[in-house]
Amino acid sequence: MNKEVVVLSGAGSIGIAIVRRISTGKHIVIADYSEKSLDNAKITLEQAGFEVSTLKFDLSSRQSIKELVEFATSKGEVKYVINAAGVSPSQAPIEKILQVDMYGTAVFMEEFGKVISNGGSGVIISSQSGHRLGTIPQEDSDLLATTDTESLLNLPIVKNIADTLKAYQYSKRCNVLKVMFEATRWAKRGATINSISPGIIITPLAADELKGPRGAGYRKMIEASPAMRAGTPDEVGDLAQFLMSDKGRFITGADFLIDGGTTASYFYGDLQYLKQTH
Ligand SMILES: NC(=O)c1ccc[n+]([C@@H]2O[C@H](COP(=O)([O-])OP(=O)(O)OC[C@H]3O[C@@H](n4cnc5c(N)ncnc54)[C@H](O)[C@@H]3O)[C@@H](O)[C@H]2O)c1
Repeated sequence: MNKEVVVLSGAGSIGIAIVRRISTGKHIVIADYSEKSLDNAKITLEQAGFEVSTLKFDLSSRQSIKELVEFATSKGEVKYVINAAGVSPSQAPIEKILQVDMYGTAVFMEEFGKVISNGGSGVIISSQSGHRLGTIPQEDSDLLATTDTESLLNLPIVKNIADTLKAYQYSKRCNVLKVMFEATRWAKRGATINSISPGIIITPLAADELKGPRGAGYRKMIEASPAMRAGTPDEVGDLAQFLMSDKGRFITGADFLIDGGTTASYFYGDLQYLKQTH
């Protein structure tokens, strides 16, 4: 009961890479809607000496998020919170992407912001994709940041989204803006919250994208990017570890691109050709 608790939503490769780095001597609570992913994560982490509890949950449901909060707080003080659950544009229809990636992630920050402990830290996995939207009107940003979570999906800019890529991009932009909004609330409890926007990171989710309708485009984009390769979950894990460590205490309400230079190249380098289609 007296161990610090690390909560991970999304038992995928990025989330697991993060918890492996920050959870020694702590109790890990992993939540995911896939029981198979939960079982695999539990076995792998326990075999590496970590203490783990799992909970099947659905990020798109406030009730389910509240159950996760209750479960996590029953294990001890919630010190570190990571949201790495999500669905990508090739995996789900528009409504589902918005419900999980935009609404669910916003509710997750809101609900964990009520229990995060003093000195704690949260990391939300957004995406480089949100940066591709470029500049949107300030009033739209303000609405995405400040609108009550239950009304978020009724905003006209959200209602007008007509394809899965835009649904994903707006959701990921919303994650970053909600992190800015939540930073003040989390600070009142002595905690920081930041987002990480990865580029293409080799995981099962990325594999679906590379095999999906946009696969050829993604492969070309990787080859032409400044890093000339995709990233690994461990590289995202290293960044998250820094943000959640004592060295990161002056960092909150911020977003960190880790994309091998892809976004920079999209605006000002060899990847400008993508502006025609993305
Ligand atoms: N891999 C990449 O290239 C990449 C790039 C940018 C951003 N991201 C983001 O990183 C995050 C993690 O992705 P990953 O690449 O580790 O993928 P992954 O598929 O390995 O993990 C995602 C996990 O989320 C879970 N999940 C999906 N919907 C859920 C829901 N409604 N409730 C509970 N769990 C749910 C899945 O079961 C899965 O275990 C996602 O938000 C994704 O958008 C990934």
